[in-house]
Amino acid sequence: MNEKGLQKDLVIEVVRIGQRVVRDDRVTTHVALVSRSFGAEKIFMTEVNPEIKETLEKINNTWGGNFIVEFIDNWKSIVKNKKKDGFKIIHLSMYGEKINDVQEQLRTEEKILVVVGAEKVPREIYELADYNVGVGNQPHSEISALAILLDRIQNGEQFEKIFPDAKRKIIPTKNGKNVEVNETRD
Ligand SMILES: C[S@@+](CC[C@H](N)C(=O)[O-])C[C@H]1O[C@@H](n2cnc3c(N)ncnc32)[C@H](O)[C@@H]1O
Repeated sequence: MNEKGLQKDLVIEVVRIGQRVVRDDRVTTHVALVSRSFGAEKIFMTEVNPEIKETLEKINNTWGGNFIVEFIDNWKSIVKNKKKDGFKIIHLSMYGEKINDVQEQLRTEEKILVVVGAEKVPREIYELADYNVGVGNQPHSEISALAILLDRIQNGEQFEKIFPDAKRKIIPTKNGKNVEVNETRD
């Protein structure tokens, strides 16, 4: 077991391409929240409200870990640099290969950058990606597609991940709420 409490040393990062200004703030925040809670370490995003970064910093402070939100101008250079660093690029698209057919192969990868869109994505990403993956071939949402992809890749193990230095830690319970509070944290 590694220091994250997981069996495998898997590095996951996410990039969100584009956003419909204002209208998408909540969706973008949820893409970041799903990334964090489903095992990714970092999200890159373009043209967003700075409050999203503050929200995720507050979440880290309360619930632990060091998930990073990084604002970028140019998604293409992130994708190209990550490829050079040995990351495999998984682009989520309803036009892609069926997740049921590629999940075994995806599980063999050790460093992945997941790309999600907001609206119509630039054609180029289909060529830059190592995998174009459809979570079903019907349109739905980047939030659901991302959650299902990350779950399929990690087989649920992401929920064993340790989020260190948390102020509050949930003790799973059948009824009600049981939360351990770390009094040494401000
Ligand atoms: C609201 S959708 C935009 C769909 C847009 N019409 C297109 O042509 O790409 C936003 C993002 O959700 C993800 N998405 C939506 N449905 C998906 C599916 N069935 N499989 C995988 N990803 C999906 C994709 O990353 C997409 O870029």
